[in-house]
Amino acid sequence: MKNTQNITVIGAGLMGHGIAQEFAQAGHQVILNDLNDEVLKTALTRIRANFEMMTKEGMCKPDQGDLALAHIHTETDLAEAVSGADVVIEAMTENLDIKLPLYEKLDALCAPHTILASNSSSYIPSKMAAATQRPDKVIGTHYFNPPFLIPLVEVIRSAQTSDETTTLIFDLLKKIGKTPVIVEKEVPGFIANRIQAAVWREILYLVEEGVATPQDIDVVVKNSIGRRWPVAGPFEITELTSLKQKQSILKELFPSLASFSEVPNILNEKVERGDLGVTTGKGFYDWTPESTQALKDKIAKALIKIDRWSE
Ligand SMILES: NC(=O)c1ccc[n+]([C@@H]2O[C@H](COP(=O)([O-])OP(=O)(O)OC[C@H]3O[C@@H](n4cnc5c(N)ncnc54)[C@H](O)[C@@H]3O)[C@@H](O)[C@H]2O)c1
Repeated sequence: MKNTQNITVIGAGLMGHGIAQEFAQAGHQVILNDLNDEVLKTALTRIRANFEMMTKEGMCKPDQGDLALAHIHTETDLAEAVSGADVVIEAMTENLDIKLPLYEKLDALCAPHTILASNSSSYIPSKMAAATQRPDKVIGTHYFNPPFLIPLVEVIRSAQTSDETTTLIFDLLKKIGKTPVIVEKEVPGFIANRIQAAVWREILYLVEEGVATPQDIDVVVKNSIGRRWPVAGPFEITELTSLKQKQSILKELFPSLASFSEVPNILNEKVERGDLGVTTGKGFYDWTPESTQALKDKIAKALIKIDRWSE
């Protein structure tokens, strides 16, 4: 395996700090880059807090946080940050106008062997590859939030990403304990977000049609399909019964499922009113800082428990 020891993470926000944390925990040398020292300081504080929480929950040993943090160096100067990088993971703000110039710079500053991996949720890797002279070494590595508690990384190859780059990144992620899955073709939303979007189309339709409230839909999901999916996927579960039975259910249901291609008004109106969820204190639910934190803690604790069930 070619050297993939030195990792640089560009963007130390919500995703970048957690991505850096995991590579450092696995013993990689990590350089974390962002626009200023203040953001980088906050990122280190967040990493420390993540380790404290994981230690409290018995997910890691008390000294693991300090050991990992000793592997992370912060650097605001891009040239310095990437000079020794084998792999650059880009987790900066989701805006192509600032991502593309960065890829041009990275291409000029990085060693010829350096792989450029993007954590973008919405831009396919060939968009970023077009700003470089190394499209064979540009790939998507799409993590989920919080990256240190959600195992999946979608590894998205463009038509120009080489087999060597794909294998190196897949093996690297596997080695540090992630669950990588290769997305063989660039499609918007990759895999998981396409599944989520299909679910969103249907739940918005059910609310708009007055079939159920958002609250009841959350109860249904948490107490039915959500109970099974952490341990068995939809194909596995269905094969425990019968594909024939699934065929007849889908024959009956498909004609009545939501199929609109515009976002429905029930969501547009909320957004226009500024009811965005926790950031504004109101969405389909009312939120206080306490109820927000309580849900975040509940999710983190459950994710840690679920992690122990994995094979
Ligand atoms: N938030 C999620 O749940 C999630 C999930 C998967 C993937 N992503 C993707 O991860 C990326 C980052 O998202 P986030 O939620 O962490 O955003 P964020 O806003 O929390 O962090 C982005 C960071 O990038 C920094 N940045 C901006 N321009 C930069 C530059 N030129 N050089 C260095 N740093 C720069 C910002 O200062 C900020 O700290 C996006 O591409 C997003 O699509 C986000």
